[in-house]
Amino acid sequence: MTAVEERRPPALAATGLVRHFAVSGRPPKGERPPGPRRRRAVHAVDDVSLLVPAGTTLGVVGESGCGKSSLGRLLVGLDRPDQGRIEWAGEPAGAHRGRVQAVFQDPASALDPRMTVAAAIGEALPGLRGDALGARIAELLDVVGLDPELAERFPHQLSGGQQQRVCIARAIASDPALVLLDEAVSSLDASLQAQVVELLLQLQDRTHAAYVFISHDLRAVRAVSDRIAVMYLGQIVELAPAERFDLELLHPYSVALRSAEPHLPGDGHRIERIVLQGDPPSPIDPPPGCRFASRCPVAQDRCRSEAPELVERPDGHAVRCHFPGSLTPAVLPEEQLA
Ligand SMILES: Nc1ncnc2c1ncn2[C@@H]1O[C@H](COP(=O)(O)OP(=O)(O)OP(=O)(O)O)[C@@H](O)[C@H]1O
Ligand code: SF4
Ligand SMILES: [Mg+2]
Repeated sequence: MTAVEERRPPALAATGLVRHFAVSGRPPKGERPPGPRRRRAVHAVDDVSLLVPAGTTLGVVGESGCGKSSLGRLLVGLDRPDQGRIEWAGEPAGAHRGRVQAVFQDPASALDPRMTVAAAIGEALPGLRGDALGARIAELLDVVGLDPELAERFPHQLSGGQQQRVCIARAIASDPALVLLDEAVSSLDASLQAQVVELLLQLQDRTHAAYVFISHDLRAVRAVSDRIAVMYLGQIVELAPAERFDLELLHPYSVALRSAEPHLPGDGHRIERIVLQGDPPSPIDPPPGCRFASRCPVAQDRCRSEAPELVERPDGHAVRCHFPGSLTPAVLPEEQLA
């Protein structure tokens, strides 16, 4: 975090969040642990702490099932943690409920098919009536780049991109302090994604809202985030300023994730792809030791018995690994591209 960010009040501070989901039924025969029957649980979120200063974006990235949405739901109060604390603007979560908004991947299911655009946005503006309400809705549609004439349309009369803009207009209507964007641009094509991302950044400049931007797409996350958290099996394994995500990553999983990002002309260099062998262990009662050990190309004996802690360095770069920086991919100059 930069010195400027540190001076800003944190919009969101989460400490030690844990969310486990109980699993019914017994494990398959060969996988039953010895001893008495225990309740099994999916460790969706395990010991997650983070800070999102006002006016900044925290990106959260990681492969499917690593706990991104479960974490997002906790952060905006759609679910409650089993353990841990969330504060918004220095007060316990709940005190600012109206100032926290969320936008999800599928705009069609987020909008009521029986409500016009005006009615959907109007719901978020309970204090306004009549002309004042109409004028504010028109203004919000304009802000998200939609023609105010669309106000009387129903969701099925809009394209996917227009629907997503309506969701964003509704989310920003109440001047939120925190906006969760969970795969909010993932269903849009590349050019529309870029437009919506640009729009979100312009809105943030104006409103100083904090964003939590969740995606499985590291390139999209890098485009919007000030800092990025990499999740693996319910835990943050690396948390670093976005600019470090080019070549200064320390956790072997983040390095592999970065290396899998498609190369685009103009990147300046090409990172040799590291293909991880093996599948992630089950999130149900994960093994002791480092959760990444079964796939880590540089794992050592200690990794399988001793779980690493997330350790923050003085420069704000945090990593959960006994041997940070030990996996370095080959970096080739762009000219060597075939
Ligand atoms: N309500 C629930 N009950 C039981 N298990 C759940 C529940 N919600 C999530 N999980 C489990 O928790 C883990 C994390 O799921 P989550 O949806 O947070 O992952 P994700 O990183 O958002 O994945 P994706 O990229 O596919 O959206 C998964 O193993 C999932 O099956
Ligand atoms: S602790 Fe060991 S297994 Fe885990 S990421 Fe680091 S080197 Fe790999
Ligand atoms: Mg998800």
